[in-house]
Amino acid sequence: MSIIYLKEIDSTNRYAKSNLENLPDRTVIQCGRQTAGRGRLQRTWIDLGGENLFLSFVLKPADVFSEVYSNLTQYLAVILAQILEQYNVQPQIKWPNDVLVDGKKIAGILSETVMQGTLFKGLVLGIGVNLNGDIKSLNKIDKAATALNLQTGETIDLTAFTNMLAGKFFEGYDRFLQEGFKEIKKYYIEHACFLNKEINVQVFNENKSGIAKSITDKGELILEKDGQPIVLTIGDIL
Ligand code: BTN
Repeated sequence: MSIIYLKEIDSTNRYAKSNLENLPDRTVIQCGRQTAGRGRLQRTWIDLGGENLFLSFVLKPADVFSEVYSNLTQYLAVILAQILEQYNVQPQIKWPNDVLVDGKKIAGILSETVMQGTLFKGLVLGIGVNLNGDIKSLNKIDKAATALNLQTGETIDLTAFTNMLAGKFFEGYDRFLQEGFKEIKKYYIEHACFLNKEINVQVFNENKSGIAKSITDKGELILEKDGQPIVLTIGDIL
């Protein structure tokens, strides 16, 4: 693993994607300030200023795409949740890969696949974690959000947090690619905040509602509607 640190950039994901060809597998792109952070579903990711985490993993696991790569966002959510536990906070996971503390979003994960025509070139797995924020800045975010310093009452050391996150990510990465989602399923379910609740899920331009019944060995969400199961592989719980 090597880390490229950029003082300021529009988006670490955008940078990683544009330069993917020249970046070796397992490069980490990190920046101090992110001026146009990208989120899922065309949302933006706001820079809270100061010491916050914005990074993208450049991953080139093979020459062809494999289904398990879609679960890397869930793997990263689990790694993050485990690190947050070391700070004595209780993380919750909202399918597929949101991490919440105290019911509020503390991090966002965005995976982008890079193709050249029909050829798979690699993945860019981006993560932003609110490590140090104040209530005024957090209120600018359209959804309930929190920051780790507000949960612990202490300033969070960005370098220590980054090293822990990247270190732990790569420690289990090869095994995860071999074993797939079932490797993390137990932890994921134990920390899931949506199971056995009536939920609404946005799937592209459609809304699916039902009771969240379970998570499959592939990380899919099973909703139950009128006694019938609906299997979702992609979506956002509203
Ligand atoms: C979301 O919850 O919508 C995903 C947000 C992902 C934000 C991170 S910050 C680092 C990386 N670079 C980006 O432009 N986005 C991701």
